Amino acid sequence: MYPSLKGKVVAVTGASSGLGKAIAQRFAAEGAKVVVNYLTEDDKPDLVIEEIKANGGEASKIQGDVSQEHDVKRIVQFAVETYGTLDVMVNNAGIQAEIPTEELTLESWNKVIQTNLTGAFLGSREAVRHMLDHNIKGSIINMSSVHQQIPWPHFAHYAASKGGIKLLTETLALEYASSGIRVNNIAPGAIDTPINAEKFADPEAKKDVIDLIPMGYIGKPEEIAACVVWLASSEASYVTGITLYADGGMTKYPSFQAGKG
Ligand code: NAI
Repeated sequence: MYPSLKGKVVAVTGASSGLGKAIAQRFAAEGAKVVVNYLTEDDKPDLVIEEIKANGGEASKIQGDVSQEHDVKRIVQFAVETYGTLDVMVNNAGIQAEIPTEELTLESWNKVIQTNLTGAFLGSREAVRHMLDHNIKGSIINMSSVHQQIPWPHFAHYAASKGGIKLLTETLALEYASSGIRVNNIAPGAIDTPINAEKFADPEAKKDVIDLIPMGYIGKPEEIAACVVWLASSEASYVTGITLYADGGMTKYPSFQAGKG
């Protein structure tokens, strides 16, 4: 547990499922006031709010598309209007789609870049504006992927968006370090969330993924949420501009395991 998170106001984008949901729940368990952003009611954001409240936590929901400037402004405004400020911004919302690059339309490219990369930019910028205006030594955490480092054929738009998030994070960390605003990045490996549900429903495809993970299992959303709360807490007070890989060793050349190579 991180006592420094008690009472802090945290906004999490894409928080109605998968990693965002686990992150929202963990912040609430730490005593933070959580703004749960969701895209559509189909995502059932009320279930997340109800679960948090049933466990004694505090949370409110706001619809918003992170690729839209106006919506991201609304999300930050909502946090300020509801809970008085914003201390932590988690830019988690993201999408992926498998498309060979020769078939990748500009529309599909733009959709992924605008959600994953532009969404992280807008969320970071709005959070920074609020933090600078109110002299808040806040924390911004972006959700990248191992594919900011590992090339991924058929996912060129996704890999490009995550590569962009890496340097967005590092640049903002440098730009706002002297204001006490920390900006960090998390790079999950393969985690058991709806984004992978179809793939992991196929036992062979799931085994192929597990074979790429030295630790030998698909990660759990809670294992990523644990990284996020640590980065947001005062325990990480001297940490800015990093990518925290939470990938079971996936980026450590698994094909070299057991003395191969
Ligand atoms: P997910 O599909 O369960 O969650 C993504 C959430 O983002 C959904 O709730 C969705 O409604 C929301 N979302 C999508 N577009 C949005 C938009 N324009 N505005 C607001 N919300 C939007 O998937 P997951 O796994 O929880 O993904 C969360 C983040 O983690 C993503 O950025 C993803 O790229 C990243 N990630 C996930 C990995 C995994 O294995 N699950 C691995 C590496 C990175």
